[in-house]
Amino acid sequence: MSGTSLDGIDVAAVQTDGRDRVIAGPALTAPYPHEFRERLRSVLGGRGPIAEIEDEITRLHAAAVEGFLSRHPMPTVDVIGFHGHTILHRPADRRTWQIGNGAALAQRLGQNVVADFRSADVAAGGEGAPLASLFHGALAAKLPKPIAVLNIGGVANVTWIGEDAQILAFDTGPGNALIDDWVLRHTGAQADFGGALACAGKAVSSAISRFLENPYFDRRPPKSLDRDDFRELMLTPLSLEDGAATLTEMTAAAVMAGTRHFPEAAREWLVTGGGRHNPSLMAALHRRLEVPVRPVEAVGWDGDALEAQAFGYLAVRSVEGLPLSLPSTTGVPRPTRGGRLFPAIASP
Ligand SMILES: Nc1ncnc2c1ncn2[C@@H]1O[C@H](COP(=O)(O)OP(=O)(O)O)[C@@H](O)[C@H]1O
Ligand SMILES: [Mg+2]
Repeated sequence: MSGTSLDGIDVAAVQTDGRDRVIAGPALTAPYPHEFRERLRSVLGGRGPIAEIEDEITRLHAAAVEGFLSRHPMPTVDVIGFHGHTILHRPADRRTWQIGNGAALAQRLGQNVVADFRSADVAAGGEGAPLASLFHGALAAKLPKPIAVLNIGGVANVTWIGEDAQILAFDTGPGNALIDDWVLRHTGAQADFGGALACAGKAVSSAISRFLENPYFDRRPPKSLDRDDFRELMLTPLSLEDGAATLTEMTAAAVMAGTRHFPEAAREWLVTGGGRHNPSLMAALHRRLEVPVRPVEAVGWDGDALEAQAFGYLAVRSVEGLPLSLPSTTGVPRPTRGGRLFPAIASP
């Protein structure tokens, strides 16, 4: 998995039937070299030397899997889920674009690869995102409901799970991406590590009120966002610290705004993704949500690996012919299968 934060490739092993059985294995993140991250950033939106970057991202994924398997040898790998990297996500125009060559990865690794997870959903009229929701539902099967699983990646998305395993999922708003971009622009650092800048600054409440007037928040889910949908926020002329504090508060405010769409209030929030490492963001969520907010480690999940595990789970569902998305997770008209299998090519 390569998320919109552009931080690197997450590799995770999972044993699963693609239904209710899930046993998580080891995981690792292979960070992108700074130079590659900037080149990847340069093709966001679908412009520039995409073919070359696509070859390179495929090679980097092959290397990440090889590195993972040499550190964590396993007797067999049935299938590899290869999400690729989203460079464009515009479901209203029935377009979503993940770069990464599934056939080339299958050949390079000599493994079965499932890729292209989102396009069938988008072609059928769905948002193509979020897709980890069914996995969240399987993991949360035995937890008290209603529960909300919040993934704070570049964009933030929530999965609400009700008593009878009813699932509702949508992107809540920006996650880390705007904070990362702000900090990068002002300091050259990748993120507001430890939330230190936000902690030292003061959020500008008028900017947050203005932000919350965006019609996205009233739009009924399912709904999804492109990484840069709220990019104009970057233009506010604030100090480094106040900007970080304001963007952090906006992420939390957008999550709170999402609760208006829940059929019933969540009793608890479990937070996954890199954003849970940001104490300023976690504190902002605590303040606004008024029910327990805990990192997913509190229930024994691995929040750095969850998204990668989800695409392993979805790869198995794809092979089994099970739907990857539902009307309540992506807005697709009916439960929809997805993913494309590239079989391993036996070495001569
Ligand atoms: N220690 C930390 N302090 C603050 N933010 C962090 C920390 N570790 C990770 N992050 C944030 O998490 C992001 C990566 O999150 P991730 O879940 O991988 O997102 P994505 O799925 O979009 O790749 C980083 O870009 C950064 O913003
Ligand atoms: Mg990531």
